[in-house]
Amino acid sequence: MMEGAIKKVCVIGAGTMGAGIAAQAANAGVPVLLLDIVPKEGGDRDAIAKGVVQRMLKAEPAPFMSKQAAKLVETGNIEDHLARVAECDWVVEAIVERLDLKQALYAKLEQVKRPGTAVSSNTSTIPLAKLTEGRSEQFRHDFLITHFFNPPRYMRLLEIVTGPETDPALAARVEDFADRAMGKHVVRAHDTPGFIANRIGTYWLALAVNTTMDQGLTVEEADQIGGKPMGVPKTGIFGLLDLIGIDLMPLLSKSLSDTLPEGDPYFETVRPLPLIDKMIAGGFTGRKGKGGFYKLDKSGGQRVKQTIDLATGEYRPEARPAKLPGKAERDLSALVALPGKTGAFAWEVLSHVLAYAAMLVGEAADDIVAIDDAMKLGYNWKYGPFELIDRLVPGKLAERLEAEGRPVPAFLKTAGDRPFYKVEGGKRQYLGLDGGYHEVKRPEGVLLLEDVKLASEPLLRNGSAALWDVGDGVAALEFTGKMNALDGDVMALIGQAIPLVQAKFKALVVYNEGSNFSAGANLGLALFAVNIAAWSEIEKLIAGGQQAYKALKYAPFPVVAAPAGLALGGGCEICLNADAIQAHAETYIGLVECGVGLIPGWGGCGEMLDRWTKSGKLPKGPMPAVAKMFETVSTATVAKSAAEAKELMFLREGDGISMNRDRLLADAKAKALALADGYAPPEKPEFRLPGAGGRAVLDRAAQDFHKKGLATDYDLVVSDTLAEVLTGGEADLVDIVTEEQMLALERKGFMARVRDPRTIARVEHMLTTGKPLRN
Ligand code: NAI
Repeated sequence: MMEGAIKKVCVIGAGTMGAGIAAQAANAGVPVLLLDIVPKEGGDRDAIAKGVVQRMLKAEPAPFMSKQAAKLVETGNIEDHLARVAECDWVVEAIVERLDLKQALYAKLEQVKRPGTAVSSNTSTIPLAKLTEGRSEQFRHDFLITHFFNPPRYMRLLEIVTGPETDPALAARVEDFADRAMGKHVVRAHDTPGFIANRIGTYWLALAVNTTMDQGLTVEEADQIGGKPMGVPKTGIFGLLDLIGIDLMPLLSKSLSDTLPEGDPYFETVRPLPLIDKMIAGGFTGRKGKGGFYKLDKSGGQRVKQTIDLATGEYRPEARPAKLPGKAERDLSALVALPGKTGAFAWEVLSHVLAYAAMLVGEAADDIVAIDDAMKLGYNWKYGPFELIDRLVPGKLAERLEAEGRPVPAFLKTAGDRPFYKVEGGKRQYLGLDGGYHEVKRPEGVLLLEDVKLASEPLLRNGSAALWDVGDGVAALEFTGKMNALDGDVMALIGQAIPLVQAKFKALVVYNEGSNFSAGANLGLALFAVNIAAWSEIEKLIAGGQQAYKALKYAPFPVVAAPAGLALGGGCEICLNADAIQAHAETYIGLVECGVGLIPGWGGCGEMLDRWTKSGKLPKGPMPAVAKMFETVSTATVAKSAAEAKELMFLREGDGISMNRDRLLADAKAKALALADGYAPPEKPEFRLPGAGGRAVLDRAAQDFHKKGLATDYDLVVSDTLAEVLTGGEADLVDIVTEEQMLALERKGFMARVRDPRTIARVEHMLTTGKPLRN
């Protein structure tokens, strides 16, 4: 732990941001004091902060990762409890965006805080120099800006701004805590209006709205062009405004207009927008209001999607534009070269936004990496502005700007014919303001497979998986198929990897950098086999998966699974078969087979039973573990965080959680290496199962669910198959069941269900709609 590490946090202002920041600090495992004003109407003086914690416990998506985290938040008010900031190492101010109120609060804070306790503002727009006006030298020394994005648990970006007097060591402590403990990707921004992401983001949105209107595009057309082809989330422009709240537009516009230097290109986008004023006045502020540019009309008893007509301001049925030419979907140069309004719109928006970003290098941030990271993590762009310019080719962008008589940003000229990024000697480099290339440096303790790939070739590879050398004697198994689905190729690669790892490495991690670790077996392939009644193929796939996973489990080297995002079905089972798990905090793990009419078939049943049996959390005897496992799996429960996965026993006590996604691989590696010394594979478990009597108990529980309307007729059949496996099959009280016998029971149960037309209907439905069929 760092000298003077942050052990307690105070958050002042329990609104949208303060509440979310408090929750994330609690998710990081430290006690938090959350203060707000005393309510004017009297009553409980802590009511505002208290109420917000209660509301957060019910909110979706959940700000807290677990109920334990919520217990770390203590609530209070600034009149009675401000002096308690002396207990804290970091005070985050997240009160309303008003300079006078913030300054008044700091004046009081100055009286009670310890020297060396960091104070940071979550301001989106107020310069640091203004915030600290009139404060003591010590206060200025301890002060910085930490600009979180909404919602603070899920948005990975944190912009940090320090002033000339900020103590660098203090800022480093805050940064370290925000990075490692709160999981944020920190970007250092300069003390300029809107910092990085909102400066570019606001310009982009304003420009895109104006251009849509000027060029006479529909809302849907603008979102189609301005979304996926540019690597922007499919909400595009208008969908995003609906999401963040249309009423925020004039506020952002005003704050930027008030603070940006004269001549900033942003001012060219500012103009009266009567339609938007009218929408806001009428309560059409987006998803949180009566609807926005899009809305769902439920008046006729049906849900009809409607879109606003930008010319008339009236809603009309949503009209999806024709698909863009395939090449334009993939190739930005082809997109901006398209004839007609599509190409014109794409060019107008991209050329302005990219030129604006180029202008901001040096001004809003030190380098292009900070700007690209800010847009990727703050606005969920797939590519940062400079990565987009590289896709367009910098020289070509400059040429066309010039041809149109528009100014070419100096830094774009610096690039000339060169790209902003290149790979040299296996390292990614970026173009600096000095005109030279510099290595893109990762913080200490950050290791990315993306970087490993630039510098090496895989040790093994097939269509669905690959094996990489990730250094220090550790190999990494990566899933590479579509959506990281698991199939026979993955199992085959595991088979090849084991002797290789045994011969040349100390340990193996199972890791990838997809947005989801794996949502499980390739159902499409399975369905194909079912449709041609290739039952022996399916049985082979199940048996092959069991063998591969058990081979990993009993391999003579440690295996650490490192999931992030969804880890479902077979993706969960590979984790359960590993020696340990190092999970990203945002891991959503579960055995969801019952949802598609199946049961876990790759060892999940035995592994979960074994976990619950050995958990020490249950009363003695075989039934409690069986009942727990049944309850979780028959309802296809998925943990909503790694912390919750521990409660559900998908993760064990000793398993690790990495808050920062970028640190997951390095953390998993360290865990694997820690296990490598004197490693011995685990003992085979033996199961004591309750037999037919236990099965009857589970079936009765399922029937209760059914009576309450919580389970369908076929759910009863599926859960009975699961009950049969978990209780040991046909026998009465079964004494000792070996792991092999458990696997055989799993296979039998799986094969019984996979042949059932109702299972097939569920799988087909899942594949076509992505949603479970409740038959
Ligand atoms: P909000 O309006 O939801 O909450 C502000 C809270 O501060 C309220 O609960 C209010 O009672 C309390 N408050 C007001 N004066 C106070 C005082 N003197 N002492 C203690 N509490 C006081 O505001 P929101 O949206 O959470 O914004 C807070 C800050 O975060 C602002 O500086 C804003 O610019 C910034 N921000 C907002 C983002 C957003 O998406 N809403 C994103 C990033 C930054």
